[in-house]
Order: sequence, then structure tokens, then C-alpha cells
Amino acid sequence: MEQPARNQIPATLIPGDGIGPEVVQATVKVLDALGAPFSWDVQQAGMAGIEQGGDPLPQATLDSIRRTGLALKGPLTTPVGGGFRSVNVRLREAFNLFANVRPARTLVPGRFEDIDLVLVRENVGGFYVAHDYYIAVGDDPHAVAVSTGTNTRDACRRIARFAFEYAVKNQRKKITVVHKANILKALTGIFLEAAREVAQDYVGRVEMDDRIVDACAMQLVLNPWQFDMLLCTNLFGDILSDQIAGLVGGLGMAPGANIGETAAIFEAVHGSAPDIAGKGIANPISLMLAAGLMLEHVGRQDLAVRLRQAIDLTLNQDQVKTGDLKGSASTLQFAEAVIKRLG
Ligand code: NAI
Ligand code: MG
Repeated sequence: MEQPARNQIPATLIPGDGIGPEVVQATVKVLDALGAPFSWDVQQAGMAGIEQGGDPLPQATLDSIRRTGLALKGPLTTPVGGGFRSVNVRLREAFNLFANVRPARTLVPGRFEDIDLVLVRENVGGFYVAHDYYIAVGDDPHAVAVSTGTNTRDACRRIARFAFEYAVKNQRKKITVVHKANILKALTGIFLEAAREVAQDYVGRVEMDDRIVDACAMQLVLNPWQFDMLLCTNLFGDILSDQIAGLVGGLGMAPGANIGETAAIFEAVHGSAPDIAGKGIANPISLMLAAGLMLEHVGRQDLAVRLRQAIDLTLNQDQVKTGDLKGSASTLQFAEAVIKRLG
């Protein structure tokens, strides 16, 4: 029976590439069982967009997200070296999704217990926007490679403000700003400078300190519990969010939210995992947890909590796990086990 709260919120659903359609299918099944309020508009992007209409970012997909302001997205393959520019980066630009929130929390006992970290990443500037190119010399078309990055004071202030507000709302006590201001004095110095300025407004409520990125990476392995929230420039945030995923069991456990003023796109931290695509063995937890963030975003904290509890019980009571967590369940078997726990 349909519940009255269902299908009230239009949302774009992008199955994506590689393991994308597999983890998206598993997640949507669970959301249906949960009675999530989304009414899906399915759209293509990435290699799937090219196969359908020759475009990795079709106009129909952009129009859909413009209309709904909300999307759940499977990973999209980006060609390495040459080929088209990352559709993930283009989507973040198109909707000015300036904040990337990536929480990492221990759900299964592993090498590190009791990890509870939130990484906030500047999502539209820095080196990651990838305005880079080659300069030909003589007969070598790739003789010189150049990359440029830009950070504006406004964008740095905005992401810092976002992180501090997030800390206040979510009872977080400390933000560690991650930079390389000793070497990239301007590009990442401006980031640190803006964060220090914004931190003044939160004295007594949220503490701030900072780390140089390489030292931070080492300390995340030696003593991750010293950190509460990490505030990172775009490229460092990309790298460290995979690292903190590693602290909680790997890329199968790491959700992310891309937040802007008029739209938000929820996705897993991982990519399309071509090495396991099509086998039905991918861990869908990252995307399920991303759907949990999406539920919180639309004010359904209650459903997000039920979803996370069901995942927790499936892993820890029923011991149903996918291969990356040393289990033997398929993607869909895991989803069915979660649905049983939703009751
Ligand atoms: P990847 O994240 O796809 O995979 C790295 C490793 O983690 C692989 O061994 C993979 O099998 C494993 N893995 C990832 N997700 C998993 C899951 N849910 N369950 C079990 N194992 C999982 O990174 P890779 O191979 O570097 O990138 C593949 C493609 O994905 C590239 O084209 C890349 O550009 C793209 N990508 C897209 C992202 C997005 O759409 N937001 C994010 C990261 C990469
Ligand atoms: Mg990444």
C-alpha cells in the first residue's frame, strides 16, 4: 500500500556508469521499502549519456536537476589523460555546488574503531577545476604541461562559513583547516586566511586549528581521533576523503553531498569501479548513506535514522556483508537484508 508521504518530492535519479546502476537499483529498492518521499525522474550522464545521445552531460539531465533541485547520482566514468572533461566537475559548476560534505563513521569493526569525522571540501575552485593543458615544443605535442588553479576570497569565506555553520548545527567542536600554505602560499594561503577570519565569529563555540596536508595525511593514520571536522581545498579534499573512507572500511562505506544554494546532488565518494562492474558484488552502502544525507536535506531525519539503523543491524547483527567487507552477499542480497531490517 502506498503511504500518503510518498512521492511528494520530485528528484532526479542518475544511474551512472560501471557499478552505478547496480548500487542505484539497490538503494532505490531500500528507499521504496522505507517509504522515502521521492518521485524519481531518471536521467542519464557520463558514458551512459554518450551511449544514449552522444553527450556525457545531456541537456535533459541539466533541465531535470534545474527543475527538481535535488539529485541522487551514481558514479560517472571520466576518461584518464584525454577525452571529455569530468561530468562530476561540470555538474558542480553548473549548479554552483560549492560545498562537498563527506562524513566517515565506523559501522563495522575494523582497523580503526569509533571514527566519526566530517570532511568539508571546497567544491568549485582550486586545482581540481582542471583548467590544464599541454604546450607543444618541436614535434612533441606534450612537451610541457600546465595547470592553473583559482581560489577567490569570497569562495573561501563561503565554504568556511558553511563548515562553521555545519559544526554548530551538528554539535561539532573543532574544525581543522587543511592547506599547503607553506608552498602554495597564495592558492591555499587565501583559504587559511579566510577560514581564520570566519573562525572569529565562532570563538567559544567551534575551535579551529590547521594542518599542512602531508602532515595531516600521516596523522589521520596515526591518530585519527584527534580530528573532528576537516575543512579542505578541492584537491586535498578529494584525496583525504578517500583516505578517511579507508579508515572506516573503504570506499564502499563513504557517502557525499554536493550542496549549493539552489540544488544539491548526493552521491558516493567512490567512482564507477570498472574492475567489479557488472558482477553484482559492489557494496551499495555508500550510496545508501548518501540517500540518508538526502533524506536529512529534505527534513526527513526520521527516515535517515531508520535507514542507518537498518544498515547497522544488517552488518553487525545479521552479518550480511559484501565482498569488500569480507562477506559474500551480492549487492541485491545486501539490499534485501536491509529491507528485512526496516521491518
Ligand atoms: P573507484 O572509486 O571507482 O574504485 C577504486 C577501488 O575501490 C576499486 O578497486 C573498486 O573496485 C573499489 N570500489 C569502489 N567502490 C566500491 C564499492 N561500492 N564496493 C566495492 N568496491 C568498491 O576509483 P577509480 O577506479 O580510480 O575510478 C573509476 C572511474 O570512476 C574513473 O573514471 C573515475 O574518474 C570515476 N570516478 C567518479 C566519481 C564520481 O562519479 N563522483 C568519483 C571517483 C571516481
Ligand atoms: Mg575522489
